[in-house]
Amino acid sequence: MSRSAHPAGPRHADVLPEGHYSAPPADLNVLDRKVWAQTVTRGADGVVSVGGIDVNRLAEEFGTPAYILDEADFRARARAWRTAFGTDADVFYAGKAFLSRAVVRWLNEEGLNLDVCSGGELATALSAGMPADRIAFHGNNKSVAEITRAVEAGVGRIVLDSFQEIVRVAHVAQSLGKRQKVQIRITVGVEAHTHEFIATAHEDQKFGIPLAGGQAAEAVRRALQLDGLELIGIHSHIGSQIFDMSGFEVAAHRVVGLLKAIRDEHGVELPEIDLGGGLGIAYTSDDDPREPHEIAKALTEIVGRECEAARLRTPRISVEPGRAVVGPTAFTLYEVGTVKPLEGLRTYVSVDGGMSDNIRTALYDAEYSVALVSRTSDAAPMLVRVVGKHCESGDIVVKDAFLPADLAPGDLIALPATGAYCRSMASNYNHVLRPPVIAVKDGEARVIVRRETEDDLLRLDVG
Ligand code: LLP
Repeated sequence: MSRSAHPAGPRHADVLPEGHYSAPPADLNVLDRKVWAQTVTRGADGVVSVGGIDVNRLAEEFGTPAYILDEADFRARARAWRTAFGTDADVFYAGKAFLSRAVVRWLNEEGLNLDVCSGGELATALSAGMPADRIAFHGNNKSVAEITRAVEAGVGRIVLDSFQEIVRVAHVAQSLGKRQKVQIRITVGVEAHTHEFIATAHEDQKFGIPLAGGQAAEAVRRALQLDGLELIGIHSHIGSQIFDMSGFEVAAHRVVGLLKAIRDEHGVELPEIDLGGGLGIAYTSDDDPREPHEIAKALTEIVGRECEAARLRTPRISVEPGRAVVGPTAFTLYEVGTVKPLEGLRTYVSVDGGMSDNIRTALYDAEYSVALVSRTSDAAPMLVRVVGKHCESGDIVVKDAFLPADLAPGDLIALPATGAYCRSMASNYNHVLRPPVIAVKDGEARVIVRRETEDDLLRLDVG
């Protein structure tokens, strides 16, 4: 596409319409370190680069849209989680945030374990060499085929999510002549301060077995009786994109309370607790996430304190961060296709992807930052809405943001912090092809998930 200017229009309305934005930043060319992957910088020529490669080159070589992942940053974050929790705790990366074989290899090399929640994720993990005993298998409705595959492979734990599943897993394990390590996922009744669709520990939702009313205690009773199961612990996951540690504090208190009740009733001290994932990341300059070492310190202190009060041996803790490992490490690179100023409102900037590569804005009202990355600009800030190319007015990528008023078709813009839940939730809506994931490190870029092709689409269409 040619890099021509768009027709003159209202650059920046005098009275700004309602929206989710604060004042425009002083200088739109400055990248806020908080939201960009570690090796992202703007070069002297004004072009943004990552891992030593500039985005113009990446767009030329791999096309747009594309998810560009900073491998060094991914590894550094994985390592930071690992070292923060030391050898007394286990870190399970939540594969649902983004999983590919390269990612599995990186996790393996950096000493992390893996949480999978479907047969597809399990297959990816095993095919890339993750040792089965470092895999935890999740999900609220695992099929018998999935359970069988997991037990046969020898996964380190299956997290039981319902009474039916307790029996199902015990039955499969027994028929395979095995004793499967399991945890029971409970809901502790915490309202995490996050979007309703990603909060998971209040009672009125589908995950886990409620602590309330004695259901969790009954689940433990049943699991302890079944020969096919070795109950190793209790699991709690309270939600996602959480900044406030108080929800984890309440969850730990209630999980330890259950461990105490189990000890009192059965004389058994379960050796593990899993506090799930859910730690928030910075999508915009307004977000202030905590570092892994602060989280590790807070969680181990909370559990230690609660166990001491309950006179229990401190169980081994595990955590399952997904977003906090991969989220900040990637950005989505788009080419601007059209720039449409709407008098007195805002300017609509259409990119070559949209809700098929990032459903989060439409689904959760998620907020993102955006920057012009193929050049700098001294033009005034204009209020924009970045939209996709789908046949739907809700196809919004960034609801409200500022970009330079000389933005034109052919410019490259990028959304930081799209490493988690973007490629993994991507769809083929409108038969738009899913973008590739390009890993960049030390001046080298390689495709780790290739771009979908029309042939891929047609191969599935066998009618
Ligand atoms: N463990 C369990 C049992 C989970 O269900 C999840 C996420 C995680 C760990 C990882 O949570 P994280 O650290 O990534 O927040 N699609 C939504 C997020 C759904 C999260 C589902 N479970 C989004 O795009 O915000």
